[in-house]
Amino acid sequence: MLIRQGIVVTHRATARLDIRVRGETITEIAPEIAPEQDEEVVEASERLVLPGFIDSHVHFRDPGAPQKEDFFTGTLAALAGGVTTVLDMPNTQPPTDSRAHLVQKAAHVATKAVVDYGFYFGATDTNIEEAASVAGEVAAMKLYMGSSTGTLLVTEFSPIYRHFTTFPLDKPIAVHAEDEQSLKYFGGMGLQDHNQARPPLSAQIALSRAIAIAEKTGRRLHVAHTTTWRELELIQEARSKGVRVTCEVTPLHLFMTEEDQHRLRNFGKVNPPLRSRDDREALWRYFDDIDTIGTDHAPHTREEKDQPYSQAPSGMPGVQTMLPLLLNAASSGRVKLEEVVKRCVTNPIQIFGLKDKGTLEIGKDADIVLIDPNHEYVLADDQMLSKCGWTPFAGTKIKGQIQQVYLRGNLAYNQGNCLSTAGSGKAIRYSK
Ligand code: DOR
Ligand code: ZN
Repeated sequence: MLIRQGIVVTHRATARLDIRVRGETITEIAPEIAPEQDEEVVEASERLVLPGFIDSHVHFRDPGAPQKEDFFTGTLAALAGGVTTVLDMPNTQPPTDSRAHLVQKAAHVATKAVVDYGFYFGATDTNIEEAASVAGEVAAMKLYMGSSTGTLLVTEFSPIYRHFTTFPLDKPIAVHAEDEQSLKYFGGMGLQDHNQARPPLSAQIALSRAIAIAEKTGRRLHVAHTTTWRELELIQEARSKGVRVTCEVTPLHLFMTEEDQHRLRNFGKVNPPLRSRDDREALWRYFDDIDTIGTDHAPHTREEKDQPYSQAPSGMPGVQTMLPLLLNAASSGRVKLEEVVKRCVTNPIQIFGLKDKGTLEIGKDADIVLIDPNHEYVLADDQMLSKCGWTPFAGTKIKGQIQQVYLRGNLAYNQGNCLSTAGSGKAIRYSK
């Protein structure tokens, strides 16, 4: 197959190029490639051509809570959003916290996925050696320093330190950096404002601890969903001292503030919370220092969200809306599309060691997204393929529509239709 004359965007440049795909792989990229006899030609001169996005932070609820999402609906939403690889978090039921649970989860989802996928391994107080023994089969470890959805939690120094020293040092430990003791203190005050109930201070305390231990142990640390100015200052300072720390932001925190949580009430509840305008602006100001954009796609049903504030679970869906929102940010001049590709493709591949994935590179999987850059539409709940069926961004006008998505050379999504069958998504292989 030859994708001809598209406006090809990578982290390096934007250029009009031809891309040849053989089987599942990109075999040639050049300003002009002559089609071979009988070769399928896709005319893309009116299209942006992007590498398939990698969402390195999703919660697909499978196994355990299929009423919110399962691996088919989650990956379907991903595909429609131009995301061809997802890394799924371990707070499923059972949690992905042992080799047996990892094997069980892999078998359980294998027949459901329509995009490629990998898993995080969940840290507990006691699974230190077991985590290290499966490191080569997962994208990273996830360590919850503060409680959120599910039961995974590690707050004591000793297990944190032991995980940091025992898990392979070059394999990232991703931390949910909110400090449990302070969350309990503020959470116990009966506040209804989520940014006060789980304040920036809690993030600062937890992140300071994580960075100090990473510095001492020389290990790689990945900070999930940074949301505050102070965290970004801490990360910058740590890096200047040579600490190996990378960090993520979510579209939720890039595009919304605590005012949106007040408007959306429980539907805008997420851990860590939507923050102040100042904090949100800091995320954009420090954008150069941010390594990855991951959605924290965390679907909950309307019924669950409609409960009283204290009972309503935290989290919002997002895997389908990340690329559209970032296209908007690019067309409004807030960020360069190359910089988006770097954070949604190039850097996640490097950080998590995703072996066969690339940013439209020869020899790598042909995961390719074709976009009509001029088509305008408005995001709506009924477009969402996630089982939860809502988006906090309903009503947002988007410029740029995802038209076709190729997964390893196969046309998997075409103008609103999923063409591939459940099970066509494959487990990722890791280079470290
Ligand atoms: O708001 C959140 N929801 N934060 C998390 O850390 C977990 C997630 C979920 O799984 O619902
Ligand atoms: Zn999460």
